[in-house]
Amino acid sequence: MASTTTTVKERVSASNFGPQYRELSPGFGLELTGCDFSKGVPKSMSLQIKELVVKYGVVVIRKTNLTDETHLELARTFGELDDIKPYLKAGRPNRLKYHELFDVSNVELDGSILDPLSPRAQANKGNSSFHVDSSFNPRRAGYSLLLAHELPPRGTGGSTEFADTRAAWDDLVEAKKSALLEADYIACHSILHSKKLAAPEHFAHIEPADYPMGRHKLAQKHEASGRMNLYLAAHIHHIEGISSEKSQALFDELFSHATQAKYRITIDWEDVGDLVIWDNTCTMHRAMGGEFANKYRRDMRRATVHDDSTQAWGLNEHTDVRQGLP
Ligand code: OGA
Ligand code: MN
Repeated sequence: MASTTTTVKERVSASNFGPQYRELSPGFGLELTGCDFSKGVPKSMSLQIKELVVKYGVVVIRKTNLTDETHLELARTFGELDDIKPYLKAGRPNRLKYHELFDVSNVELDGSILDPLSPRAQANKGNSSFHVDSSFNPRRAGYSLLLAHELPPRGTGGSTEFADTRAAWDDLVEAKKSALLEADYIACHSILHSKKLAAPEHFAHIEPADYPMGRHKLAQKHEASGRMNLYLAAHIHHIEGISSEKSQALFDELFSHATQAKYRITIDWEDVGDLVIWDNTCTMHRAMGGEFANKYRRDMRRATVHDDSTQAWGLNEHTDVRQGLP
């Protein structure tokens, strides 16, 4: 462990990279300061950041000076970008200039603050449970890059929390690991399920089982690091091949294990221009909410990179069907 940390440190300091960095917890989460993109996105810098994301799961870069354009430029160096075109086709308007930016704000098209009772606010509630991005789509997300454009005043909430699902796998007792590997469970992910759990009244008329789900192995190798991972999310509706009671019990057991305080880090957004990059295939995250929600604007924009590992499509057909459309 110590020697790999040294390797990354050496690589970082042996280059023109220049930033200061701080581990947020041992082996999980790294904060970089002094990484300024106002003059562009040097390829050597983005490659080293990617390496750090693979190792630490989550990398916070303070005061990046990124714009929409350079945010997308940086994201493209991580891989092929997902976009919101299917949602536009379904009639959902876009406040932002680029289709490759997902609007994670509480801001309406006219700049006003989202009404907490509006359908969009009800749907957003699902983000407050630990999840991975896009596990419900045919092709899951690899990296997400979330950039702060406007932040609520400090102390009014809006932090983002992350959980280390590789460490959670590592700490399982050997018998549990072997049982999971032998069973080779497939979990079915549904955005409608997690949304309904978070806002049961609003989604009372929706039955997630009526819609297709994303099918992914529950225990799988994180190929970029070679470590094992528990690919968990609040999107998991059921685990295939066992009764619904057993499926719920196994999900609850693994989810509560992986979300223990010792696997979590909280990231407080400090300044406009702060960027958090995470790997959805070895971490979970959630929006922590707060009293700002119906008082102050929080304008966050996310570029989402399609996974390019052999597990990217799970056991799904290679289509472009999206869940959660009206
Ligand atoms: C996301 C997300 C959490 C937050 O962008 O995918 O879940 O704190 N964001 O905004
Ligand atoms: Mn998310």
